[in-house]
Amino acid sequence: MSQTILVTGASGNVGREVLRSLKDKPATIRIASRSPVPLGEQQNPNTVYLDFEDPTTYLNAIAGCQSVFLLRPPAISNMKATLNRFIDTVREVGVQQIVFLSVAGADRNPIIPHYTVEQHLQNHPGDWTILRPGFFAQNLGSAYRSDIRNEDRLYLPSGRGRVAFVDLRDVGQVAADALVSWKTHQGKAYTLTGPQAFSFEEVAECLTSSLGRKIRYDSASIWGYARHLQRQNLPGAQILVQTLLHLGLRFGQAETVDPTLERLLGRKPLDVRDYITDHAQLWRKGST
Ligand SMILES: NC(=O)c1ccc[n+]([C@@H]2O[C@H](COP(=O)([O-])OP(=O)(O)OC[C@H]3O[C@@H](n4cnc5c(N)ncnc54)[C@H](OP(=O)(O)O)[C@@H]3O)[C@@H](O)[C@H]2O)c1
Repeated sequence: MSQTILVTGASGNVGREVLRSLKDKPATIRIASRSPVPLGEQQNPNTVYLDFEDPTTYLNAIAGCQSVFLLRPPAISNMKATLNRFIDTVREVGVQQIVFLSVAGADRNPIIPHYTVEQHLQNHPGDWTILRPGFFAQNLGSAYRSDIRNEDRLYLPSGRGRVAFVDLRDVGQVAADALVSWKTHQGKAYTLTGPQAFSFEEVAECLTSSLGRKIRYDSASIWGYARHLQRQNLPGAQILVQTLLHLGLRFGQAETVDPTLERLLGRKPLDVRDYITDHAQLWRKGST
């Protein structure tokens, strides 16, 4: 009998790629969202309502599942009351595998919210796999998209820092394998980066040649960047986190290439140039 896998964060950048990679796997996929497809002809029978901030939604979402892909939504910061509580329920109903999307370095830094979740998972032997991706190539198509499309620039306080961008298409593939062939991956934590580090100057050059128009990299000051985010009406906490994160890039925090992803995939991982070439339509003028 094929197993049932619950995918949380399914409508986001990572979850989308996990779903894509699960498509050809011998499993029934259940999508968790706070916006299930409305009743009627369009209803997707595999969509369930799940809100990490409402524990009464947990049991119905996970009943009958054997595996769970767990994503920490960026807006949630109290891990104990949300994700850890969800993990407890998942364990109570006998789910056998939890694949948690953490972040590179979370195991060494208690300030990062994912640290608390990693600790909680590791209290229980062997029903988990932790993925620790580095900086996403997909940030170019989400957080930076309007700057590139509308202003022909990357505006970041990251100086000359280099980044080993990881492509979520590769992360999705590793997650899908860990969800289906869980015995191979249980009790393991993987740091996942791209195969080469690039400066933002180089990223801007690659965008320029893919799009056929000049895209420049403007190195922002800390305050200039924070004001830039403020003008986009982002919440204060997010402005702080995003500014600190990009400042870290300046000091090489996401520069190190880790060989784990190549080993797991059995091929060279995609790099940021692949992402740009394959998604050039995202930054065309007027694209929606
Ligand atoms: N950006 C990077 O470079 C990077 C690098 C390493 C790790 N990460 C980590 O990646 C994660 C972000 O992934 P992402 O980019 O895929 O996020 P995203 O695109 O912002 O998607 C967030 C997802 O969370 C769901 N969600 C939001 N609030 C929820 C709630 N209260 N209960 C249940 N689900 C909720 C949303 O689904 P619905 O709205 O449908 O419910 C959505 O699918 C973060 O943990 C971040 O730290 C990011």
